Amino acid sequence: MAQVIGSRFKELYPYVVLLPTSIEEKIEYIMSLFSSPVTVEILRLFEWDKELCQKEIIVSLSQHSNKTVISSIRKLVSLNLLEEKDKVEIRGNRRVRVKCYKLTDIGKWYNILFKDINELDSKLLREALTNLSVMFMAKILPFSNYLRVSFMDFINQVLSSAMESAAKSRRHLEYDLLVFGSVALDVYLKPDVRMFSGGAGANVASLASNLGLKTGFISKVPANIIGSYLLAELINEGVDVSLSIMDQGVELPICIVFEPLEPTQLKCTCKPQMDLRSLPVIDRVNEEIIQACNNSRSIYLGEGVSKVYLELLSKINRENKIIVFRPHKLVLEHYFDEFTSILHYSPILILNEEKEQIMRRKGIEVPSDLFKIGVRELIVTRGSKGATLYVEKSEPKTFKAPSVNAMNTVGAGDAFSASLIYYLLKNETIEESVRKAVYLSALSTTQLSSRKHLAELSKTIST
Ligand SMILES: Nc1ncnc2c1ncn2[C@@H]1O[C@H](COP(=O)(O)OP(=O)(O)O)[C@@H](O)[C@H]1O
Ligand SMILES: [Mg+2]
Repeated sequence: MAQVIGSRFKELYPYVVLLPTSIEEKIEYIMSLFSSPVTVEILRLFEWDKELCQKEIIVSLSQHSNKTVISSIRKLVSLNLLEEKDKVEIRGNRRVRVKCYKLTDIGKWYNILFKDINELDSKLLREALTNLSVMFMAKILPFSNYLRVSFMDFINQVLSSAMESAAKSRRHLEYDLLVFGSVALDVYLKPDVRMFSGGAGANVASLASNLGLKTGFISKVPANIIGSYLLAELINEGVDVSLSIMDQGVELPICIVFEPLEPTQLKCTCKPQMDLRSLPVIDRVNEEIIQACNNSRSIYLGEGVSKVYLELLSKINRENKIIVFRPHKLVLEHYFDEFTSILHYSPILILNEEKEQIMRRKGIEVPSDLFKIGVRELIVTRGSKGATLYVEKSEPKTFKAPSVNAMNTVGAGDAFSASLIYYLLKNETIEESVRKAVYLSALSTTQLSSRKHLAELSKTIST
C-alpha cells in the first residue's frame, strides 16, 4: 500500500485525520464525511470565522436539492464539525427563525484539508495547528502505558524523532561552513539566574548562520526534550542540523557561568574520562558526512574526538577548503598526541591564552614547536588584549581589541571563530580577517546573549 501511494504521490501532505474511537463510529464517520460530495462541498464553503446561514448554503449549492443540502448540514452538525445556532431575522414586519452555522475546532481542521495552505491566514492556522498538536499529544500520551515505556521516555522519543525528521526536511546540499562541536546548556548566575543555549560548536554555527553563511552543524545531541529544544533553536537560527544525531545515551553538558566576565571560572559537567558514546560529539564519520564536507567551502573542528577528526581529514578533499581547528582544552590536557596528529594536516589553529599556557606546561614552545609539527597559521586570542597572528616565517602580529563596555565574555572565542571564517570566505587576507574578527568579537561581548547580534554588529566594521 505504502509503495503504491509512494509511486503516485512523491510527497505526502502532513495531515492528521481525526476520527472517533469506536470502530463502528469510525466507519460511519468516514462514510458520512467522505462518501457524500455534498458534505465536503459544504465544509469548503466556510471561512474559519464566518457564520453561514442555511439559506446562503442552499443558494451556494443550488445544483443539489434543498433536501440533500439540509440533511448533509445535519450530518455535519451531528459529527461535531459544524456548530448550529438559532437566530431571529426581521423580514419586513415578520420575525423569522433561521439556522446558522460555524465551523467547530475540528470542523476547521477538516475545512483546511481541501484548501491551499498558502491562502490561509497564518495566525488562524498557527492556532489550529497548536490546538491540534495539543489534542494529538494528549490523545497519544496515554498510550505510553500500553507500550510499556515511561511517560518521559515516550515524550522524549516523540519529540526527538519529530525534530530529526524536521531537520532532514531542511537539509542544504551545499555549505559555506560545516561546524563540528557540541551543544550545552549554559546556566548564568549573574546578573540573574538565566539559561541560554550554549556549546562552543553550536555557538559558532549559530553565529556563522547569523552572519549569512550557509551553515551545517554536526554533533550528537541527547534525544530528549532539552536536546530537541537546543536543536529547534539552531534550526530557528537557520542552521542545518540534519547531520546531527540524537542519541539517548548522550549526556548534556551543563555549564555554570558564575561570572559572565570571567569565563575561566566556567564549570561544565563534561569530563575527559567519559565513555566515548556518552560524549556530546559524533564518534564516527559516515559517507553522508564526508560528502557534506566535500560540498562545503570551510570546516570548523571544535570540541570533538581527535580520532574522528583524523579519519575525516584523511578522507575528504581538502583542496581549496578553509579548515579551522579549535581544540577543547581537555583534548590538549589528555589527548595531546592525537591533537598533534591533527596538526599534520595544517589547519588554521585557534587557541586562547589558557590553552597557550597548557602547551607551555607540556614543554611546547608556542609557536615554533607547532610550526615544526605542521601548523602554518596560528591565532592566539588574548581576551581584552585582542589576538596574535603567527604565520610561519613571518613576524607575529598583534591586533588590539577596541575597548568596549563588556557585559559577557563567555563565548567571545566563538564569536571570534565564526567571524574569522566569515571574512576568510569573503576572500579577505588572514591579517584582515583576524583584524576584523577581533573587532567583531570585542563588540559581541557588549551583549548579554551574544548569539543573535553578530550580523547587526558587523555592519559597523569598515571594509
Ligand atoms: N573584555 C574584552 N574586551 C574586548 N574584547 C574582548 C574581551 N574579551 C574577549 N574579547 C574579544 O574576543 C576574542 C576572543 O576572546 P578570548 O577570551 O581570547 O577567547 P575564548 O572565549 O576562547 O577564551 C578576543 O580576541 C577579543 O577580540
Ligand atoms: Mg577567554
